Amino acid sequence: MAELDKALRERAEERFGARAYEDYRLMLGEVDAVLVLTPDDTHADLACEILRAGVPVFVEKPLDITLERCDAILRAARESGTRLHVGHNMRHMPVVRLMREIIQRGDVGRVRTVWVRHFAGHGGDFSFKDRHAEREHAGGLLLQKAAHDLDVVHWPAGGYTTRVQAFAYTRATTRQPCPDHVFPAGFVQQRPSASAPSPRLGTHPHPRSRCQVHRRVR
Ligand SMILES: NC(=O)c1ccc[n+]([C@@H]2O[C@H](COP(=O)([O-])OP(=O)(O)OC[C@H]3O[C@@H](n4cnc5c(N)ncnc54)[C@H](O)[C@@H]3O)[C@@H](O)[C@H]2O)c1
Repeated sequence: MAELDKALRERAEERFGARAYEDYRLMLGEVDAVLVLTPDDTHADLACEILRAGVPVFVEKPLDITLERCDAILRAARESGTRLHVGHNMRHMPVVRLMREIIQRGDVGRVRTVWVRHFAGHGGDFSFKDRHAEREHAGGLLLQKAAHDLDVVHWPAGGYTTRVQAFAYTRATTRQPCPDHVFPAGFVQQRPSASAPSPRLGTHPHPRSRCQVHRRVR
């Protein structure tokens, strides 16, 4: 594995016996594939270089935070002929697979609407308190969180969005973290849990979107 943070490298070596590098380039000759699990706005830089080195890549969702950077990844995969997988893990969840099977069997007739509501957990601690709230590092909740939801709409509906209508408002959550919330043992809480959102909040905390998927599914 590769990790910039020395303490995390040491923990991986100790816990998993991993060979840990600071520079991911040093491990490329030793691996069959690489999982890119770094912050959203770093995906393209890593993925393009690794794909061009001919090593298959799994990139966590979202691919990156701008269309140009996402296109660069797709181009690197196509031009190098290297396998690329985008980490939409929710489509592999048993409940989502079952929904798709039920729809594909025709049990519920023709699907006209798919509706998803996503609650950001921990009082929004993960989304509004650090780089996740800063426009230059993140694309907002519609990209960070709703990337899952959009995939879960597209997958069972059997199509991709062709038209979008969206709006958001900027009032950030000021809700306190739940007082009896207990993080699981071993969970590294790197994000501050104070109630105030980042003073650099540049993303929209309350996005809503309506998508028209082909085959007239909304
Ligand atoms: N699919 C899911 O359910 C799911 C859930 C959470 C996060 N994610 C995605 O996973 C990614 C990581 O999220 P996170 O919350 O774990 O971020 P994080 O900031 O907690 O961890 C990212 C790690 O990457 C390391 N890193 C950054 N650049 C590096 C580089 N060049 N080489 C080696 N290490 C580097 C950082 O030091 C850090 O430890 C994001 O894209 C996020 O959207 C997906």
